[in-house]
Amino acid sequence: MSDAAKQAVIDSLDIGFRYPDDQRAALITKVAEINSVTESQISLGSGSSENIRTVVQMLQNQALVEGKKFQVIVPHPTFAYAELYATSINVPVVKVPLTTENYAFDLQSMQKVADGFDGISLFYLCNPNNPTSTITDTVKLKEWVGHAPSNRYFLLDEAYSEYVTDPSFESGVTWIREEYSENIVVVRTFSKLCALAGMRVGYAVASPQMIARLEAFISIDNTNLAGAVAALATLDDEDFLALSLRTANQSRQLVERTLDELGLRYLPSQASFIFHEIKGDVQTYIDRMREHGIAVGREFAPITGFNRLTLGRPDEMAVFVEVLKSFREKGWV
Ligand SMILES: Cc1ncc(COP(=O)(O)O)c(C=O)c1O
Repeated sequence: MSDAAKQAVIDSLDIGFRYPDDQRAALITKVAEINSVTESQISLGSGSSENIRTVVQMLQNQALVEGKKFQVIVPHPTFAYAELYATSINVPVVKVPLTTENYAFDLQSMQKVADGFDGISLFYLCNPNNPTSTITDTVKLKEWVGHAPSNRYFLLDEAYSEYVTDPSFESGVTWIREEYSENIVVVRTFSKLCALAGMRVGYAVASPQMIARLEAFISIDNTNLAGAVAALATLDDEDFLALSLRTANQSRQLVERTLDELGLRYLPSQASFIFHEIKGDVQTYIDRMREHGIAVGREFAPITGFNRLTLGRPDEMAVFVEVLKSFREKGWV
Protein backbone atom coordinates (compact mmCIF):
# COMPACT_ATOMS: atom_id res chain seq x y z
CA MET A 1 0.00 0.00 0.00
CA SER A 2 1.29 3.49 -0.75
CA ASP A 3 2.42 5.49 2.29
CA ALA A 4 0.12 8.30 1.21
CA ALA A 5 -2.82 5.86 1.25
CA LYS A 6 -1.89 4.62 4.73
CA GLN A 7 -1.71 8.19 5.99
CA ALA A 8 -5.04 9.04 4.38
CA VAL A 9 -6.66 6.09 6.18
CA ILE A 10 -5.18 7.17 9.53
CA ASP A 11 -6.33 10.75 8.98
CA SER A 12 -9.83 9.59 8.10
CA LEU A 13 -10.33 7.88 11.47
CA ASP A 14 -11.37 11.16 13.06
CA ILE A 15 -14.42 11.26 10.80
CA GLY A 16 -15.10 7.53 10.89
CA PHE A 17 -18.45 8.17 12.56
CA ARG A 18 -19.77 9.83 9.39
CA TYR A 19 -21.12 8.22 6.23
CA PRO A 20 -18.61 8.39 3.37
CA ASP A 21 -20.73 10.50 0.97
CA ASP A 22 -18.14 13.21 0.30
CA GLN A 23 -15.27 10.78 -0.16
CA ARG A 24 -17.32 8.53 -2.45
CA ALA A 25 -18.32 11.58 -4.50
CA ALA A 26 -14.68 12.72 -4.73
CA LEU A 27 -13.61 9.24 -5.81
CA ILE A 28 -16.32 9.06 -8.48
CA THR A 29 -15.16 12.43 -9.84
CA LYS A 30 -11.55 11.27 -9.93
CA VAL A 31 -12.32 7.90 -11.50
CA ALA A 32 -14.50 9.56 -14.14
CA GLU A 33 -11.67 11.97 -14.89
CA ILE A 34 -9.00 9.30 -15.36
CA ASN A 35 -11.33 7.31 -17.62
CA SER A 36 -12.47 10.42 -19.54
CA VAL A 37 -16.14 9.69 -18.94
CA THR A 38 -18.85 11.50 -16.99
CA GLU A 39 -19.55 10.87 -13.30
CA SER A 40 -22.87 9.34 -14.31
CA GLN A 41 -20.87 6.60 -16.04
CA ILE A 42 -19.22 5.30 -12.87
CA SER A 43 -20.58 2.94 -10.22
CA LEU A 44 -18.31 2.18 -7.26
CA GLY A 45 -18.15 -1.29 -5.79
CA SER A 46 -16.87 -2.94 -2.66
CA GLY A 47 -14.15 -4.38 -4.85
CA SER A 48 -14.96 -5.04 -8.50
CA SER A 49 -16.48 -8.30 -7.25
CA GLU A 50 -19.54 -6.31 -6.23
CA ASN A 51 -19.73 -4.72 -9.67
CA ILE A 52 -19.62 -8.17 -11.26
CA ARG A 53 -22.46 -9.28 -8.99
CA THR A 54 -24.62 -6.27 -9.82
CA VAL A 55 -24.33 -6.90 -13.56
CA VAL A 56 -25.47 -10.51 -13.14
CA GLN A 57 -28.31 -9.59 -10.79
CA MET A 58 -29.51 -6.63 -12.81
CA LEU A 59 -29.76 -8.71 -15.99
CA GLN A 60 -31.42 -11.60 -14.19
CA ASN A 61 -34.00 -9.15 -12.89
CA GLN A 62 -34.47 -7.62 -16.34
CA ALA A 63 -35.06 -11.09 -17.75
CA LEU A 64 -37.64 -11.85 -15.04
CA VAL A 65 -39.48 -8.57 -15.64
CA GLU A 66 -39.50 -9.09 -19.41
CA GLY A 67 -40.45 -12.77 -19.09
CA LYS A 68 -37.25 -13.85 -20.85
CA LYS A 69 -34.62 -16.45 -20.19
CA PHE A 70 -31.13 -15.42 -19.09
CA GLN A 71 -27.78 -17.18 -19.33
CA VAL A 72 -24.17 -16.31 -18.56
CA ILE A 73 -21.50 -17.46 -21.02
CA VAL A 74 -17.93 -17.71 -19.76
CA PRO A 75 -14.67 -18.92 -21.25
CA HIS A 76 -13.15 -21.83 -19.39
CA PRO A 77 -10.99 -21.47 -17.40
CA THR A 78 -11.48 -17.87 -16.29
CA PHE A 79 -11.98 -15.89 -13.08
CA ALA A 80 -14.92 -17.59 -11.38
CA TYR A 81 -16.97 -14.81 -9.75
CA ALA A 82 -19.43 -14.19 -12.59
CA GLU A 83 -20.13 -17.91 -12.62
CA LEU A 84 -20.44 -18.09 -8.83
CA TYR A 85 -22.79 -15.13 -8.56
CA ALA A 86 -24.92 -16.48 -11.42
CA THR A 87 -25.07 -19.97 -9.95
CA SER A 88 -26.14 -18.60 -6.55
CA ILE A 89 -29.32 -17.19 -8.12
CA ASN A 90 -29.91 -20.18 -10.39
CA VAL A 91 -28.82 -18.51 -13.61
CA PRO A 92 -27.44 -21.16 -16.02
CA VAL A 93 -23.76 -20.75 -16.89
CA VAL A 94 -22.33 -22.12 -20.12
CA LYS A 95 -18.57 -22.68 -20.07
CA VAL A 96 -16.77 -22.55 -23.41
CA PRO A 97 -13.26 -24.07 -23.35
CA LEU A 98 -10.30 -21.94 -24.40
CA THR A 99 -8.78 -22.85 -27.76
CA THR A 100 -6.32 -25.72 -27.44
CA GLU A 101 -3.60 -24.16 -29.61
CA ASN A 102 -2.98 -20.94 -27.64
CA TYR A 103 -5.47 -20.88 -24.75
CA ALA A 104 -7.38 -17.95 -26.25
CA PHE A 105 -11.12 -17.24 -25.95
CA ASP A 106 -13.07 -19.17 -28.56
CA LEU A 107 -15.20 -16.21 -29.61
CA GLN A 108 -17.02 -18.11 -32.35
CA SER A 109 -18.12 -20.92 -30.07
CA MET A 110 -19.18 -18.42 -27.41
CA GLN A 111 -21.22 -16.58 -29.99
CA LYS A 112 -22.85 -19.84 -31.11
CA VAL A 113 -24.05 -20.50 -27.57
CA ALA A 114 -25.86 -17.14 -27.66
CA ASP A 115 -27.15 -17.70 -31.22
CA GLY A 116 -28.88 -20.89 -30.12
CA PHE A 117 -30.52 -19.24 -27.10
CA ASP A 118 -33.86 -17.48 -27.01
CA GLY A 119 -33.26 -14.87 -24.33
CA ILE A 120 -30.66 -12.56 -22.81
CA SER A 121 -26.99 -13.62 -22.83
CA LEU A 122 -24.21 -12.09 -20.75
CA PHE A 123 -20.63 -12.77 -21.85
CA TYR A 124 -18.10 -12.46 -19.05
CA LEU A 125 -14.76 -11.64 -20.69
CA CYS A 126 -11.75 -11.16 -18.48
CA ASN A 127 -9.13 -9.20 -20.41
CA PRO A 128 -6.29 -9.97 -19.65
CA ASN A 129 -7.72 -13.32 -18.67
CA ASN A 130 -7.15 -14.83 -15.26
CA PRO A 131 -5.54 -17.45 -15.05
CA THR A 132 -3.80 -17.35 -18.44
CA SER A 133 -2.66 -13.68 -18.19
CA THR A 134 -3.17 -13.25 -21.95
CA ILE A 135 -5.21 -10.63 -23.77
CA THR A 136 -7.90 -11.15 -26.39
CA ASP A 137 -7.30 -9.87 -29.91
CA THR A 138 -8.57 -6.28 -29.81
CA VAL A 139 -9.76 -6.12 -33.42
CA LYS A 140 -11.82 -9.32 -33.14
CA LEU A 141 -13.25 -8.38 -29.75
CA LYS A 142 -14.19 -4.89 -30.82
CA GLU A 143 -15.84 -6.14 -33.99
CA TRP A 144 -17.83 -8.72 -32.03
CA VAL A 145 -18.93 -6.40 -29.25
CA GLY A 146 -19.74 -3.58 -31.66
CA HIS A 147 -22.06 -5.69 -33.79
CA ALA A 148 -23.87 -7.67 -31.12
CA PRO A 149 -27.68 -7.60 -31.05
CA SER A 150 -29.34 -5.80 -28.14
CA ASN A 151 -30.06 -8.98 -26.14
CA ARG A 152 -26.30 -9.65 -25.71
CA TYR A 153 -24.35 -7.98 -22.95
CA PHE A 154 -20.59 -7.90 -22.40
CA LEU A 155 -18.99 -7.69 -18.98
CA LEU A 156 -15.36 -6.83 -19.64
CA ASP A 157 -13.29 -7.46 -16.53
CA GLU A 158 -10.13 -5.35 -16.78
CA ALA A 159 -8.75 -6.00 -13.30
CA TYR A 160 -5.25 -6.35 -14.76
CA SER A 161 -5.38 -3.86 -17.65
CA GLU A 162 -2.80 -1.53 -16.08
CA TYR A 163 -0.15 -4.24 -16.47
CA VAL A 164 -0.69 -4.78 -20.20
CA THR A 165 2.37 -4.06 -22.33
CA ASP A 166 1.00 -5.29 -25.67
CA PRO A 167 0.36 -2.08 -27.67
CA SER A 168 -2.57 -3.66 -29.53
CA PHE A 169 -4.65 -3.75 -26.32
CA GLU A 170 -7.55 -1.34 -26.15
CA SER A 171 -9.75 -0.93 -23.10
CA GLY A 172 -13.50 -1.43 -23.42
CA VAL A 173 -13.78 2.02 -21.83
CA THR A 174 -12.68 3.42 -25.21
CA TRP A 175 -15.67 1.72 -26.85
CA ILE A 176 -18.01 3.03 -24.18
CA ARG A 177 -16.70 6.50 -24.98
CA GLU A 178 -17.22 5.82 -28.69
CA GLU A 179 -20.84 4.91 -27.94
CA TYR A 180 -20.83 1.23 -28.54
CA SER A 181 -22.07 1.62 -25.12
CA GLU A 182 -25.46 0.19 -24.27
CA ASN A 183 -24.43 -3.43 -23.94
CA ILE A 184 -20.95 -3.06 -22.38
CA VAL A 185 -19.90 -2.81 -18.76
CA VAL A 186 -16.19 -2.56 -17.92
CA VAL A 187 -15.13 -3.37 -14.38
CA ARG A 188 -11.85 -2.27 -12.86
CA THR A 189 -10.28 -2.58 -9.44
CA PHE A 190 -7.97 -0.89 -6.95
CA SER A 191 -6.92 -4.33 -5.68
CA LYS A 192 -4.06 -4.99 -8.09
CA LEU A 193 -1.78 -2.20 -9.31
CA CYS A 194 -3.05 0.17 -6.60
CA ALA A 195 -2.33 -2.51 -3.97
CA LEU A 196 -5.54 -1.96 -2.02
CA ALA A 197 -7.13 -5.42 -2.10
CA GLY A 198 -8.00 -5.30 1.61
CA MET A 199 -9.67 -1.91 1.24
CA ARG A 200 -12.27 -3.30 -1.20
CA VAL A 201 -12.61 -0.69 -3.90
CA GLY A 202 -13.59 -1.33 -7.49
CA TYR A 203 -15.82 0.29 -10.08
CA ALA A 204 -17.87 -0.19 -13.21
CA VAL A 205 -17.82 2.05 -16.28
CA ALA A 206 -20.82 2.01 -18.62
CA SER A 207 -23.37 4.26 -20.25
CA PRO A 208 -25.31 6.54 -17.85
CA GLN A 209 -28.45 4.45 -18.45
CA MET A 210 -26.66 1.20 -17.70
CA ILE A 211 -25.04 2.68 -14.58
CA ALA A 212 -28.43 3.81 -13.28
CA ARG A 213 -29.75 0.28 -13.73
CA LEU A 214 -26.71 -1.22 -11.97
CA GLU A 215 -26.84 1.23 -9.07
CA ALA A 216 -30.23 -0.22 -8.09
CA PHE A 217 -28.41 -3.44 -7.17
CA ILE A 218 -25.34 -2.18 -5.32
CA SER A 219 -25.08 -2.18 -1.57
CA ILE A 220 -25.90 1.45 -0.74
CA ASP A 221 -22.86 3.45 0.55
CA ASN A 222 -20.75 0.46 -0.49
CA THR A 223 -17.30 2.05 -0.62
CA ASN A 224 -16.21 2.56 2.95
CA LEU A 225 -14.46 5.70 4.13
CA ALA A 226 -11.02 4.10 4.50
CA GLY A 227 -11.23 2.54 1.05
CA ALA A 228 -12.34 5.77 -0.61
CA VAL A 229 -9.60 7.92 0.90
CA ALA A 230 -6.96 5.26 0.28
CA ALA A 231 -8.01 4.99 -3.37
CA LEU A 232 -7.94 8.77 -3.82
CA ALA A 233 -4.51 9.09 -2.22
CA THR A 234 -3.12 6.24 -4.33
CA LEU A 235 -4.33 7.80 -7.58
CA ASP A 236 -2.47 10.97 -6.62
CA ASP A 237 0.69 9.06 -5.70
CA GLU A 238 2.32 8.77 -9.10
CA ASP A 239 5.62 7.56 -7.66
CA PHE A 240 3.90 4.67 -5.95
CA LEU A 241 1.96 3.67 -9.07
CA ALA A 242 5.19 3.73 -11.07
CA LEU A 243 6.93 1.64 -8.39
CA SER A 244 4.07 -0.87 -8.34
CA LEU A 245 4.29 -1.33 -12.11
CA ARG A 246 8.08 -1.36 -12.21
CA THR A 247 8.43 -4.00 -9.52
CA ALA A 248 5.76 -6.20 -11.15
CA ASN A 249 7.72 -5.98 -14.40
CA GLN A 250 10.99 -6.79 -12.62
CA SER A 251 9.38 -9.79 -10.98
CA ARG A 252 7.95 -10.97 -14.28
CA GLN A 253 11.29 -10.64 -16.05
CA LEU A 254 13.09 -12.54 -13.31
CA VAL A 255 10.59 -15.39 -13.44
CA GLU A 256 10.52 -15.48 -17.25
CA ARG A 257 14.33 -15.59 -17.38
CA THR A 258 14.35 -18.53 -15.00
CA LEU A 259 11.60 -20.37 -16.86
CA ASP A 260 13.55 -19.83 -20.11
CA GLU A 261 16.69 -21.20 -18.46
CA LEU A 262 14.81 -24.24 -17.23
CA GLY A 263 13.01 -24.74 -20.55
CA LEU A 264 9.56 -24.42 -18.99
CA ARG A 265 6.96 -22.87 -21.29
CA TYR A 266 4.75 -19.94 -20.26
CA LEU A 267 2.07 -17.81 -21.86
CA PRO A 268 2.95 -14.16 -22.65
CA SER A 269 2.08 -12.51 -19.36
CA GLN A 270 0.10 -9.27 -19.54
CA ALA A 271 -0.82 -9.28 -15.88
CA SER A 272 0.60 -9.57 -12.36
CA PHE A 273 0.81 -13.34 -12.61
CA ILE A 274 2.20 -15.84 -15.04
CA PHE A 275 0.79 -19.14 -16.29
CA HIS A 276 3.67 -21.53 -16.75
CA GLU A 277 4.48 -25.13 -17.40
CA ILE A 278 5.52 -27.51 -14.65
CA LYS A 279 6.89 -30.93 -15.45
CA GLY A 280 5.54 -33.70 -13.25
CA ASP A 281 2.50 -33.67 -11.01
CA VAL A 282 1.42 -30.07 -10.36
CA GLN A 283 -0.21 -30.79 -6.98
CA THR A 284 3.02 -32.40 -5.75
CA TYR A 285 4.89 -29.30 -6.93
CA ILE A 286 2.43 -27.02 -5.07
CA ASP A 287 2.84 -29.07 -1.89
CA ARG A 288 6.63 -28.98 -2.13
CA MET A 289 6.63 -25.21 -2.66
CA ARG A 290 4.40 -24.85 0.39
CA GLU A 291 6.95 -26.76 2.45
CA HIS A 292 9.34 -23.92 1.51
CA GLY A 293 6.78 -21.30 2.59
CA ILE A 294 5.83 -20.42 -0.99
CA ALA A 295 2.18 -20.38 -2.11
CA VAL A 296 2.25 -20.79 -5.90
CA GLY A 297 -1.38 -20.92 -6.97
CA ARG A 298 -2.85 -23.91 -8.71
CA GLU A 299 -3.69 -25.80 -11.85
CA PHE A 300 -6.80 -24.73 -13.77
CA ALA A 301 -8.69 -27.65 -15.25
CA PRO A 302 -9.07 -28.63 -18.02
CA ILE A 303 -5.54 -27.27 -18.69
CA THR A 304 -3.04 -29.64 -17.15
CA GLY A 305 0.71 -29.30 -16.57
CA PHE A 306 0.48 -25.53 -16.02
CA ASN A 307 0.47 -23.52 -12.81
CA ARG A 308 -0.67 -19.95 -12.17
CA LEU A 309 1.96 -18.02 -10.26
CA THR A 310 1.20 -14.62 -8.72
CA LEU A 311 4.11 -12.19 -9.05
CA GLY A 312 5.12 -10.92 -5.64
CA ARG A 313 7.82 -8.37 -4.94
CA PRO A 314 11.17 -8.89 -6.72
CA ASP A 315 12.85 -10.00 -3.45
CA GLU A 316 10.11 -12.58 -2.94
CA MET A 317 10.44 -13.81 -6.51
CA ALA A 318 14.22 -14.09 -6.07
CA VAL A 319 13.52 -16.64 -3.31
CA PHE A 320 10.99 -18.41 -5.53
CA VAL A 321 13.40 -18.81 -8.48
CA GLU A 322 16.13 -20.21 -6.22
CA VAL A 323 13.72 -22.81 -4.87
CA LEU A 324 12.48 -23.61 -8.38
CA LYS A 325 16.06 -24.12 -9.56
CA SER A 326 16.73 -26.39 -6.58
CA PHE A 327 13.68 -28.43 -7.59
CA ARG A 328 15.19 -28.82 -11.05
CA GLU A 329 18.43 -30.08 -9.52
CA LYS A 330 16.41 -32.71 -7.74
CA GLY A 331 14.70 -33.60 -11.02
CA TRP A 332 11.27 -32.53 -9.70
CA VAL A 333 10.25 -29.96 -12.34
C1 LIG B 1 -10.00 -10.98 -12.95
C2 LIG B 1 -10.43 -10.53 -11.60
N1 LIG B 1 -11.54 -9.78 -11.49
C3 LIG B 1 -11.97 -9.35 -10.31
C4 LIG B 1 -11.31 -9.68 -9.15
C5 LIG B 1 -11.89 -9.24 -7.86
O1 LIG B 1 -11.20 -8.18 -7.39
P1 LIG B 1 -11.76 -7.17 -6.32
O2 LIG B 1 -13.09 -7.60 -5.87
O3 LIG B 1 -10.76 -7.17 -5.23
O4 LIG B 1 -11.80 -5.87 -7.06
C6 LIG B 1 -10.16 -10.45 -9.21
C7 LIG B 1 -9.45 -10.84 -7.98
O5 LIG B 1 -8.51 -11.57 -7.96
C8 LIG B 1 -9.71 -10.90 -10.48
O6 LIG B 1 -8.63 -11.66 -10.61
